[in-house]
Amino acid sequence: MSIKSRGNLLRGVLFGLVLILQTATTEGRIFQDEEHNHPGEDLFKKVWKPNQTDKSNSEDGLGPMFNGISCVACHNQGGIGGSGDNIANVQILTVLPRQDSRRNFRLDQIALEMLFKQAVKLHPDFEFQNSVILHRSSVQNEAYGRWLKDIFEFKSVTKATGFESNRKLVEERGRLLFETPIHRVKKGSAKDRYTIQISRRNTPSLFGVGIIDMISDQDILALESAQKKTDGPVKGVASISADGEIGKFGWRGEQSSVAKFTAQACAIELGLSNVDHPQARLPFSKSRYSIQKSHDISKSQIKELVEFVNSLDPKPIRRSKTHSELQLLQKGQEQFHTIGCANCHVQTVGIAKNVFSDFLLHDMGPELADASHSIRKKTHSPAHSPVYGRSKAEFEIQNPQRWQTPPLWGAALSAPYMHDGRADSFHDAILVHGGEAVSSVDKYQRLTPFDRKLVLEFLQSLGDDSTGGNEELPPETHGWGTPPPRSRQGRLVRKQP
Ligand code: HEC
Ligand code: HEC
Repeated sequence: MSIKSRGNLLRGVLFGLVLILQTATTEGRIFQDEEHNHPGEDLFKKVWKPNQTDKSNSEDGLGPMFNGISCVACHNQGGIGGSGDNIANVQILTVLPRQDSRRNFRLDQIALEMLFKQAVKLHPDFEFQNSVILHRSSVQNEAYGRWLKDIFEFKSVTKATGFESNRKLVEERGRLLFETPIHRVKKGSAKDRYTIQISRRNTPSLFGVGIIDMISDQDILALESAQKKTDGPVKGVASISADGEIGKFGWRGEQSSVAKFTAQACAIELGLSNVDHPQARLPFSKSRYSIQKSHDISKSQIKELVEFVNSLDPKPIRRSKTHSELQLLQKGQEQFHTIGCANCHVQTVGIAKNVFSDFLLHDMGPELADASHSIRKKTHSPAHSPVYGRSKAEFEIQNPQRWQTPPLWGAALSAPYMHDGRADSFHDAILVHGGEAVSSVDKYQRLTPFDRKLVLEFLQSLGDDSTGGNEELPPETHGWGTPPPRSRQGRLVRKQP
């Protein structure tokens, strides 16, 4: 990474920081005149303000660390609760062990122990995992700015290896990636050097999550065993969340229910502490979580919020106006099946009709690898340790190429695509599929241009029937400045191939 791009990276991080704080002081509720009847909708749209220092019991407890000033700031494309543009992406800071000369990470016990020892000095949340959220904003803006500067002031810098391998792979397929999805730098002295990486998560749409919540574990496990039995390359595995349940939410399926995700979103995205999740703390503070006398958002408010999110209907499939239009869309859907897209993007799972996902994790190849949250440290008490009298850390390593198949209902409204929002169009999204999906992508590329268009047209029909509900958000509700232009249906206006 050049000095210049390092500077840009830092500026990008700091820009978000300043932008959001300028608007964070805007008065609380908006949309007051609008017609609505769901109390949770008010909470979803509410612009939260930082706590007044003299009023620690105030419910308006944005921060101390936050990514947005409201839920709707990120979830708004195609209407309240929709997906988000790249400007709303969540950023993740990851530490990885130093690399050897062949650029492979050393993942042995000593390297990992060294890594966690160093990383926890950088951010206290590196205690048990190799990733932390790199928040866009803090109520202690200046101190946070200094902390960020310190992190990004590198002594020596390697090339952005993650990007280079992406670029090469994609060039082989006849096109270039538009942007660096992952930044990597080396930090530390030669002895204890480690690599830090910043990656991004694209905001998914929440339309239909209430139905996904009700899909039974059996339905997902049945898909897993059916894929195991086939000869093909597609072998998805169910994600097991931290609480031991099947995970259906998040790009890696880390969460098992909308309720748990919502409690986590309140605490992490907005910094609203609640009964179910502690809020994100200041990275430069010593205590594990900020100490608070009361919660920023009550149990009943969270319940209302969850009820509202669960009530968001999936976006319908476009109704064809003419018979020939219907025939073309049906042909497109047939192609989608024939070339193997439907092996992962399964049309109907249990009660979720036309959801187009199997909710399983798939190895999507090195093109889509992201090592964030890939290493967890489990420390055993001395009594259970094989080394008597000394606690011994055990590390759990996840495959960084695994992602959960995202549902495609409503996909017409949710560009940009993929976990980091790197693809602007369906065509680009398909081409960056690798790993288990390679043969399907090859088949797509071998289709005639007309048949390819039919597949894209079919995807475009998913959720394209949106009528209304897509008013432009006033800037004070999201804090991102002038919003990008949108089409009538609420999709951001982007170039198509
Ligand atoms: C800064 C942007 C941002 C804000 C603010 C935000 N979210 Fe999200 N939301 C995301 C991102 C990014 C993901 C995907 C996270 C992942 O997969 O790791 C997500 C995922 C979710 C999911 C899981 C959806 C699925 O199908 O996987 C739910 C539910 C959710 N958010 C609810 C909320 C609620 C409720 C709020 C307000 C309390 C909120 N979000 C605020 C960015 C945001
Ligand atoms: C092996 C399973 C698999 C196959 C086969 C597959 N996909 Fe996917 N698809 C995924 C996964 C997993 C992702 C998310 C990967 C990521 O974000 O890095 C994805 C993402 C997408 C997205 C972006 C969705 C979003 O919300 O960002 C689209 C569109 C898509 N696939 C369409 C297709 C089409 C069309 C085909 C057939 C040519 C296909 N997929 C074949 C697993 C698969």
